[in-house]
Amino acid sequence: MKTIAILSTAGGAGRTTLTAALAVLLARRGRPVVAVDFDPQNLLGPHLGLDELPADGIGAAIASGAPWHAHTWRNDDGVLFVPHGDVPLSSLVSISQLLADEPAWLATSLAGIDLPAQGVVLIDTPRYPSVQAAQALYCADLIVCVTPPEPGPLATLARHLPQLRAARNESLFVLNRLNPAREMQRDALSMLSAALGPGAAPVIRLHADAALPEAFARGSWLFDDAPYSQTSHDLQGLASAVDEWLAPLAEPSRASEPR
Ligand SMILES: Nc1ncnc2c1ncn2[C@@H]1O[C@H](COP(=O)(O)OP(=O)(O)O)[C@@H](O)[C@H]1O
Ligand SMILES: [Mg+2]
Repeated sequence: MKTIAILSTAGGAGRTTLTAALAVLLARRGRPVVAVDFDPQNLLGPHLGLDELPADGIGAAIASGAPWHAHTWRNDDGVLFVPHGDVPLSSLVSISQLLADEPAWLATSLAGIDLPAQGVVLIDTPRYPSVQAAQALYCADLIVCVTPPEPGPLATLARHLPQLRAARNESLFVLNRLNPAREMQRDALSMLSAALGPGAAPVIRLHADAALPEAFARGSWLFDDAPYSQTSHDLQGLASAVDEWLAPLAEPSRASEPR
């Protein structure tokens, strides 16, 4: 079992969208997938098919100490979803304090998940730096670090790169919402590659497509509604990169993969 944290140093970068898309695409390739919402925004559930924001979950359990395992839920694609749950404002400070005091809280909690070697746990996080993102970084074997192709987010990413890389995990960097018609965004790719330095894996590009949020609003996926669109192709490419990084699947599971 491997753990992957989806991180960004900018808000609205696409962490939740990518966590859900990766969870679904990897599950469809035959992977056992657990998707954990570790962001108090509590928004991963609707991306995975829930009609309402879940009241209980792993985040709510930090404050109460109650077990969160009873609140997991499996979506249509077979993803086992661990909601964050609804946390009142009054509890946020005490939760942050507890997570700051116990940096391995999430790692310890996830260690109880019984997944085979080919399985993967994906963690959605609030913007880094935050105690939740730091916990996900602590327990991740791989970080998928996503950023919009804009100067501000790229500057904050460059600023936090040393801490992100200090954790001994591997990393994939994703430029999301790319519009190649905008010259500044083409420069963003060069800026990010320069910040990552020589020897870093190539940056993965995801193009902007207004149909992605529209598909979410309809409760469907862009890669189902428009499988030949550029962004669907990009999302499949990201899933392939992660899939190749994970332990190979046994042949029988591959046989059920859609062609
Ligand atoms: N490639 C994309 N093209 C168009 N819209 C996108 C793309 N990726 C994400 N979005 C939209 O951007 C908004 C923020 O995405 P979200 O995943 O919620 O970000 P975060 O979790 O980092 O705050 C959402 O409305 C989402 O649908
Ligand atoms: Mg989010």
